[in-house]
Amino acid sequence: MNRKIVIGNWKMNKDIRQSVECAEELLQSKYGLDTVNSTDIVLTPSFLALNEVKKVCAQRSGIYLGAQDVFYEPSGSYCGAISAAMLSEVCSYAFAGHSERRMYFGDTDEMVYRKVRACTDAGIVPIFCIGETGRAYSAGRTKAYLRYQIEHGLKDVRPCDMVVLYEPVWALGTGRTPRTDEVEEVMCFVKETLAGLYGPDRSAGQAAVRAVYAGSVCPENAAAYAALPHVDGVAVGTASLCAQKLAAIIHAVDRVD
Ligand code: PGA
Repeated sequence: MNRKIVIGNWKMNKDIRQSVECAEELLQSKYGLDTVNSTDIVLTPSFLALNEVKKVCAQRSGIYLGAQDVFYEPSGSYCGAISAAMLSEVCSYAFAGHSERRMYFGDTDEMVYRKVRACTDAGIVPIFCIGETGRAYSAGRTKAYLRYQIEHGLKDVRPCDMVVLYEPVWALGTGRTPRTDEVEEVMCFVKETLAGLYGPDRSAGQAAVRAVYAGSVCPENAAAYAALPHVDGVAVGTASLCAQKLAAIIHAVDRVD
C-alpha cells in the first residue's frame, strides 16, 4: 500500500519570515505531528523561502520540500527560470502543470510533459497536475479531459515515483467541492488510465504512483476524501496557510486506514 501524502501549497503567499514561522508553528508539540507515521508531508513555500523552511523541517523526518514549478531545460540563458537540477539541491518534489500555471502562465500539455521529464531526470518526484474546467465538468466531459491530459502529459515518461494530483479547476479556492462519489469515480478512472500506460502494478497501489485530490480541502472534509479507496492523499492551498488547519488535515488523513 502507498504511503499517504499531504501537500501544503502556499502558492504566492507568505514572505520568508512568515514561511519559517508557519513551518515552526506546524512543528510545535501542541500539534502532535510526532504521532503521524503513515503520511508524508510536503510543504511548497515560495522559491525564496525553500531553504529556510527546509532548515526548520530538518528537525523532523517525513517532511519534504517541494517547488511550486520547474523549468524543463537543464541550464542556459532562460532568464528567471529554475531548473530541476537546481531544485534537486533543496527539493524532493516539484509541481508540474498546476492549473494556475496552465491558466495564468500558459503551460501547455507539452510543457507540462517536459517538466515531468525534467523532474524525473533530476531525481525529483513530479506532482503532475490534471483537472477539468468548470465547462468540461458541466458538459460531462471530465474523463475525456483528464485522459487527454494524462496521455499527453506522461506520454513516454517511464514508470517512476510520481504524484498525480487531481484538482477540478472549478473547485480551487472556491469552497465548492465535488461529492466524494464523484472524486472516487474520477480517481478510479485516473488509476485505470495509468494502468493502461504503465501496467496495473504501477497504479494499483503497490507502486509509487500516488493519486491525490485537491480543491478546497479543509479540516472538515479531508478525511472523507482521503478515505476513498483510490485516493492516496490531499493537496491543500488556502487552508494550508494556517498551521493549525494544516495540522488538523494531516492528522485527519493519517488516521484513515
Ligand atoms: P485550494 O487550492 O485548497 O485553495 O482549493 C488547492 C490547489 O490549488 O491545489
